[in-house]
Amino acid sequence: MTRPFYVTTPIYYVNDVPHIGHAYTTVAADALARWRRLWGDDVMFLTGTDEHGLKIQRAAEANGVTPLEWADCMSARFAETWALLDISNDDFIRTTEPRHSRAVGEFLQRVYDAGDIELGTYEGLYCVGCELYYAEDDLVGGNCPIHGTPVERVTEENYFFKLSRFEDRLLAHYTEHPEAIEPAGKRSEVLGIIKQGLRDFSISRTSISWGVPLPWDTNHVAYVWFDALVNYCTAIGYGNDRARFDRFWPADYHLVGKDILRQHAVYWPAMLMSAGEAPPKHVFAHGFLMVGGEKMSKSGAGQIYPADLVSEFGVDGFRYHFLADQRFGPDGDFSYEAMVARYNADLANNFGNLANRVLNMAVTYCDGVVPDERADGPLVDAVASTFGAQQTAFERLDFASAFGAVWDLIRAANAFIEDSKPWALHKSGDATATAAVIGDCLEALRVIALLASPAIPRASAELWRRLGLSGAPTDQRLPDAANWGGLAAGAKLDKGTPLFPRIDT
Ligand code: MSP
Repeated sequence: MTRPFYVTTPIYYVNDVPHIGHAYTTVAADALARWRRLWGDDVMFLTGTDEHGLKIQRAAEANGVTPLEWADCMSARFAETWALLDISNDDFIRTTEPRHSRAVGEFLQRVYDAGDIELGTYEGLYCVGCELYYAEDDLVGGNCPIHGTPVERVTEENYFFKLSRFEDRLLAHYTEHPEAIEPAGKRSEVLGIIKQGLRDFSISRTSISWGVPLPWDTNHVAYVWFDALVNYCTAIGYGNDRARFDRFWPADYHLVGKDILRQHAVYWPAMLMSAGEAPPKHVFAHGFLMVGGEKMSKSGAGQIYPADLVSEFGVDGFRYHFLADQRFGPDGDFSYEAMVARYNADLANNFGNLANRVLNMAVTYCDGVVPDERADGPLVDAVASTFGAQQTAFERLDFASAFGAVWDLIRAANAFIEDSKPWALHKSGDATATAAVIGDCLEALRVIALLASPAIPRASAELWRRLGLSGAPTDQRLPDAANWGGLAAGAKLDKGTPLFPRIDT
């Protein structure tokens, strides 16, 4: 029976169009999903849009349309962007779908029946941008610490989730499962928040109508975060298909930005515990992608859109940058110049030239077919250590090192060509030695196409074809497919045109 593997991105608010900050998380989740599929896992990769709440209601009003019309239009923008970037999500959830309202209703009822929801009055300072209440001390100059905009004083009768009851259970859970929050620094942050003491939080609103009604009191709609978090359960059949839910739950990975760690690592596990479900296995919080040292603002200034970069760098060039050139964890700075430099160095030069050189030599010296001979030289070990390093890096969600390992193999193959000089071997008339060197390089290219495929699926599939291999890298199964010797002799090669044309600025 194949192993289930469930990975999620946050569901994105539809008040904004997709920018490279959103793409950064989604491409990372996609690479992880593709990697696990190579291992033969039964992968469920979920992304989607978060469509309820005051923020969306106001965005719709400002644009003179209904909230649903607004959400339909914006949600489609996200779906189109992910299609453009070859994101291989298995489902796309929208919180306005009937399956989701049903699941939220079911989830709320469970928590209510468990006695963890109580009626109370709330007065607080609310930031609509965050859809969160803030304490006086959290504010910066009286404004929201994230958005820098004024908060609103709100008083309402609300239902409260008794989060304060879960302190001990959460601490016990994280003591028993230190791996549940990554990276480690984020785990300490969350432990700090819990140890300071948790306050109950309000989970319903009467002031707005754009949301999921509470099953036992339909004057209230569910607070958007309560509604949103349940999406991870909805998509795998919560309240509808228990067998499917049990197969995929608890989620293997929730990938989130550091700004929404508290909701995922404190609220969400407590909500799940109350509803009688297990907390997620891992919540991984990454940093912000900055432009010119600042977080891309929601207002549009400084935002960079995926389609603009794709038109210049191609889909693979885009994906490669956000996986290999940006670290997943700390904050990163986006720079166009750095992206061009790395594209030219890694994709046009190292990857592209290696493929070009090897295929050209094979056409000239080996009649354009995969030779029988192998030198079984230094690339045998290089392949094994690349595969090992990539595996270790993927376990830490260190995508930069995972693909860095593949580029080490590319450099090793280029160095092997320089050292063994097949052109000189050919000139000296040693056809066997020439073919053996080329055989090793072709074999290395096969493994490179395979292991680079979660980052650059298009170029990998094309290289696979040029190597005379049938199917695509996605049909392969690790670990066997990474073994030395998978390339069959006699297959017809195709030298093709450069896979990554250089970009001149
Ligand atoms: N709707 C909530 C999430 C609910 S999940 C149950 C939300 N949406 S969001 O659209 O505002 O943000 C979604 C994700 O995008 C967050 O993880 C956030 O960190 C990420 N990013 C938004 N801008 C970003 C950057 N500039 N850089 C990296 N990630 C950023 O929060």
